[in-house]
Amino acid sequence: MSRVTAAQRVKSSIVAEREIMRFAVPDPVTGIRPHALWHKHVHNVELDPIQILKMQEMDAHPNTVDFSCRRTGKTAVKEMYHLEMLATTPHQELGIVAPRMQQSQNNLNYLIDGVRRSEILTAYIAHKQGRPQLRDTSFQFVNGSKASAYGIMSQIDGDSITMASLEETDDMPQDRLMSRFLPMLGAARRLGVDRKTTEFKPSIRISGVYKGADVLQRLIDTGEYHTLPPVDVHLGVALGMVDHMCISVWPLRVTICPPSSRGLRAARRFLPSA
Ligand SMILES: Nc1ncnc2c1ncn2[C@@H]1O[C@H](COP(=O)(O)OP(=O)(O)OP(=O)(O)O)[C@@H](O)[C@H]1O
Ligand SMILES: [Mg+2]
Repeated sequence: MSRVTAAQRVKSSIVAEREIMRFAVPDPVTGIRPHALWHKHVHNVELDPIQILKMQEMDAHPNTVDFSCRRTGKTAVKEMYHLEMLATTPHQELGIVAPRMQQSQNNLNYLIDGVRRSEILTAYIAHKQGRPQLRDTSFQFVNGSKASAYGIMSQIDGDSITMASLEETDDMPQDRLMSRFLPMLGAARRLGVDRKTTEFKPSIRISGVYKGADVLQRLIDTGEYHTLPPVDVHLGVALGMVDHMCISVWPLRVTICPPSSRGLRAARRFLPSA
């Protein structure tokens, strides 16, 4: 493989930026961002109709919660939306938090896989001292936007983020979430960044299914979070997101029909609310 010089990297990142911004501007008539075109053009993913609707609602509401059925693309839509925001807005910082570090790394992998899938985004990865800033736990684009993964028990004080992505919220201790992670969102300025041109608007995106703890329910009850259109198991099957045969033999014989009291706890994982 031939060596790529720093000057060549700068040139390709400028070309990449032009392609990234091609579908990043809202439609002048409707004011709607063409998310489906962006994701198809930049990293070859075709969003399903529900994912497009969810992205539009995320544009309108900074704090959202998604508790759709298992395997219906909650994590995928949330992290693809973050990937688009990072690539199209400068100096943003995404922090992904889950009960365990490995789980947040799984989420970060949705973004990193997107970058690897796309020549445009690969050319847009920042380099420091000749090394690409694409690691297992974080990455950074040329526009200064970066993403990192955290575990809820890790020492996270002192970092600053603008977008928070909470995964499997029901498994996290609420006090640590409130006292350690969410305060990182507060800072409205950054060193060396002009506040007139760059806005730091905090957003919190929560996903997770009901697992019997109260954390998710309490967050929803605060009324600060907009609920994204939930996809229940019936809609998931109808739209071809989940396999019908697989669902009918899911553990504890949870059926597509409303559950009996014995199956209630397990069924909560598959229905938006039970
Ligand atoms: N638009 C899409 N096109 C193709 N595949 C997709 C799309 N959206 C999601 N998927 C795939 O569907 C699967 C499930 O998605 P995802 O992991 O986001 O579901 P989930 O709702 O987070 O599941 P869980 O409840 O287990 O966390 C993944 O393998 C993902 O790659
Ligand atoms: Mg998930």
